[in-house]
Amino acid sequence: METSIEQILEEALKALDDASDVESVKALSVRYLGRKGAVTLFLRSISQMPPEKRAAMGKRANDVKNTIDKALKDTLRRFETAQTDLEARIDVTLPGRPFPLGSLHPISRVTMEICDIFVRLGFDIVEGPEVESDWYNFEALNMPVGHPARGEWDTLFVDHVPPGGEPGTTVLRTHTSPVQIRTMLDSEPPIYIVAPGRVFRRDTPDSTHMPVFHQIEGLLVDEGVTFGHLKATLETFLHALFSDEVDVRLRPGYFPFTEPSAEVDISCIFCDKKGCGVCSGSGWIEILGAGMVDPRVFEAVGFDSDRYTGFAFGLGLDRVAMLVYGIPDLRQLFAGDQRLTRQFA
Ligand code: PHE
Repeated sequence: METSIEQILEEALKALDDASDVESVKALSVRYLGRKGAVTLFLRSISQMPPEKRAAMGKRANDVKNTIDKALKDTLRRFETAQTDLEARIDVTLPGRPFPLGSLHPISRVTMEICDIFVRLGFDIVEGPEVESDWYNFEALNMPVGHPARGEWDTLFVDHVPPGGEPGTTVLRTHTSPVQIRTMLDSEPPIYIVAPGRVFRRDTPDSTHMPVFHQIEGLLVDEGVTFGHLKATLETFLHALFSDEVDVRLRPGYFPFTEPSAEVDISCIFCDKKGCGVCSGSGWIEILGAGMVDPRVFEAVGFDSDRYTGFAFGLGLDRVAMLVYGIPDLRQLFAGDQRLTRQFA
């Protein structure tokens, strides 16, 4: 019997040593000191023992009971203090610390939105190089060397121009139209593509001009394509981009690579044609250039212009971003100030 109470003590202390939380300590208290606990039962069994042993055994059992009780309480206090310490150091109810999130630049946003619209209409998205040969940027687009329309694009030349020689043959592309040429040389009709990208012109920065800006080009070549298809496609696109409420107006225009050509306006989204600062009082905002692909362009890429017709259009993405987000000065889009871009998170 003496070993038995010693065993209980040993076991209890070891179990307490292994306990890892308040719950398990409480369970041990029940197991050893509860109404049916090991120590309680042992104490009760003392009355069955030989009378001469009862006094010593009773005393020892009570000591064991007190030892276990004290050990239980100590362990419990240790766990409870540890928990309070943790709570004092960490307020688990505090919201998490915010970390900075990136946000898309307004131009990226409108580019993605416009691409989405055209993808829904069945167009593919393609890209072309920013450093381009004169042939793709001008010549194949029906602007041979010396063509007066070349002057419309204030070109940045990459090549060294020898004194008295021809302009360099490599340029920073002045528009996304060379991607039309690359696509037509790479594939056969039917062609349905849009080509977003950066373009470059020798311009002094002001509120509406930057030497680096962005365009998206559209090209559709198939059998039986008419000017009506061009108009309907642009109307569908502009309604999806701005609103069904905007009116779309086509005016005669001129581009060497399209014939006929058109300048496309939308009714002013700020004043509904009443005339305001944004539309310079005219009620209309010029938004893109477009036209039917000139047969000379088809000739340059080897397409049969008796069989195929097509249309093309070009749109300034920076201008659209300014309109959509109400940004008054183009330079703000390129100042790199995160207070601007953060608004579009
Ligand atoms: N490339 C022309 C520009 O930069 C826009 C355009 C594209 C016009 C396609 C007609 C067709 O101004």
